[in-house]
Amino acid sequence: MSRVVREERVSNPPGGFRRRSTWSPNDISWGEFDSTKVDPDILKAIKGACMVEHHSDDYVTYLCSVFHDDESFQSEARAWGIEEVQHGIVLRRWCELADPDFDFDHSFRKFTAGHILPLDSNHSVRGSRTKELIARCIVEVGTSSFYSAIRDASDEPVLQDICRRIAGDEFRHYKLFYANMKRYRSREALGFFTGLAVALTRLLESSDDELAYAYYCGNRPPEPYKRRYHGRAYARRTLPLYQRAHVERAIMMTLKAAGLRPQSILGRWLTHAGGLVFRLNAWSLTLARN
Ligand SMILES: [Fe+2]
Ligand SMILES: [Fe+2]
Repeated sequence: MSRVVREERVSNPPGGFRRRSTWSPNDISWGEFDSTKVDPDILKAIKGACMVEHHSDDYVTYLCSVFHDDESFQSEARAWGIEEVQHGIVLRRWCELADPDFDFDHSFRKFTAGHILPLDSNHSVRGSRTKELIARCIVEVGTSSFYSAIRDASDEPVLQDICRRIAGDEFRHYKLFYANMKRYRSREALGFFTGLAVALTRLLESSDDELAYAYYCGNRPPEPYKRRYHGRAYARRTLPLYQRAHVERAIMMTLKAAGLRPQSILGRWLTHAGGLVFRLNAWSLTLARN
């Protein structure tokens, strides 16, 4: 497997969030797909990811309800949702190339039936708009690091290209939610520890809930869904793919969203300690698998 970490080039477009994606599924060289280079564990993880990406439409509805009087943010959220669904479309197509028996429609129906969002809520399930936006930042931390890790771990050229493009989008999405979070944070006067608690809560949910269920629905194992069991199965296939640079960048982005300067002494210490905990966790899961 390729183990080269590439430098992220996060574009910073003038005027804030670039509303249109700079690429489309037609830009991908699908003819270069090489079935001999598909890693079965990565394929399983990508089947789960395409479920989550396709579900972003519902998140747009939810965000527009929560930010019902903020037309500017609503417009950005709709543009964001279009990009996320595009991620789902290209990942689905790659899964269908890698596994012609992959039945996306069946899996997605099961996923959306079991993972229901509060679409008509006019207040955030996190308790405030700032907290909602911190949680959205953390989701983008998770996706940007996930696709960066897959890009660097996979040898399959089409998947490398897809993940390079998607990772770029996810870093930009983080900036979108971070910029809006800063705007609301100044009004709501949210403290660092409250912000950190929101970020950590969302991080723990990521490792234990939606992704595990998407992974389960995408791969349709014969046994009934068990949240903890399938959460560990998903983590065993994905955590070892992350390199140190991916993990440290993700921790720094998390701290920044919580309100701490990652370059501060505390920020550097937490980045180091968090990276160590992550590696120990990935190592213990690998041992449990063998
Ligand atoms: Fe995405
Ligand atoms: Fe995203």
